[in-house]
Amino acid sequence: MSEINITKNKLQRYLLKFDGVTCPGCVTAVKKTTSQLDETKFVEISESSGDTIITSSLWANQIKFELNEFEGCCSDCQIAIREVEETDLDTFETLFEKPDDLELVKKQYKIALERALEGIEVACSDNCVCKTTDVDRLSESDGVASFASVYNLNERINSFLEQGMLITDFGCGTGHDAILTAEIVNPGIVTGIDVTPEMVKFATEQAKLQGINNVKFIESFDLSPLEKESQDVIYVNNVLNLLNDKSVFLLGAYEKLKLHGLLIIADEFALEEFPTELRDDESFQCGGISGAEFVENVETMAIEHGFKISHWESIKEYDIEFNNEKYKLKTGILILQKSIGRSGIYQMN
Ligand SMILES: C[S@@+](CC[C@H](N)C(=O)[O-])C[C@H]1O[C@@H](n2cnc3c(N)ncnc32)[C@H](O)[C@@H]1O
Repeated sequence: MSEINITKNKLQRYLLKFDGVTCPGCVTAVKKTTSQLDETKFVEISESSGDTIITSSLWANQIKFELNEFEGCCSDCQIAIREVEETDLDTFETLFEKPDDLELVKKQYKIALERALEGIEVACSDNCVCKTTDVDRLSESDGVASFASVYNLNERINSFLEQGMLITDFGCGTGHDAILTAEIVNPGIVTGIDVTPEMVKFATEQAKLQGINNVKFIESFDLSPLEKESQDVIYVNNVLNLLNDKSVFLLGAYEKLKLHGLLIIADEFALEEFPTELRDDESFQCGGISGAEFVENVETMAIEHGFKISHWESIKEYDIEFNNEKYKLKTGILILQKSIGRSGIYQMN
């Protein structure tokens, strides 16, 4: 295999084209090797040029590591990487499909906000983790409710925040955390992103009412409004569980963070496998439970994408009940730091 010639920028994604892979055995071998990586869905084969070309969007250092030892099934095929192209953001974004179940999230969080404003309750759904805390959320919220079991995230992450920082609160909801953070990091800037338009409107109004000028709220389903390598801290408070493709989110966060920047994930984490019926149940989905991941799996994905595990805080373990069975979860805060390469070991030149 030829040496992969990749220029200095370690943080770009690349499209790599292999050619000279013409026999079915070698094609299968290349597919199998690349499919062990996270972005398997981007692997495709085009035979238009006579050669088999495999185009894949992968981190350059992953490719270098995974394919270093690659061997095909015969000596006729020359398994060589023909091209290494840096992808622009637009090309890369089109590789990701917009999740199709955002409509449920948007509907549910619109209702949740309305119910909170009417003084009924602060809960994302009937089976919601907000209810696992013993806090009177309506009185605690002072008008700007937190829809997260870690309702006091700021108190727990204060030591990681500094004046002047650029911070993103992804899935910011009512702006509860973002507004508090803006006061701490002033003159830094906080960007709150949320997919539910009613949440964005409410948060914007709240910041204005409170005279907080260094926070802005944007409607989006991902981190694409942010500049590359611009953020000191990105946090997600009870949002990761709602994301279908957590790996894609981690990749996006990696891209938008400055080197050594932090991704703070406060969430529910599974302590055992859940049955499919529970995973498919809409009120558990919009309650922070169905999509809860094992923290070990999140850590593995994060390391794959170039993060280091910086800190873990377990807050509380609890059971939920579904069809007369109990299932265990835990609430915790995982802090990841953007470093270079897998566990810092596989660094590019
Ligand atoms: C459980 S609430 C947490 C809100 C806030 N972080 C807090 O602590 O109060 C989840 C929020 O994530 C938002 N959300 C869910 N999926 C999203 C996505 N793909 N992109 C942006 N926001 C999303 C929802 O609209 C909702 O406001």
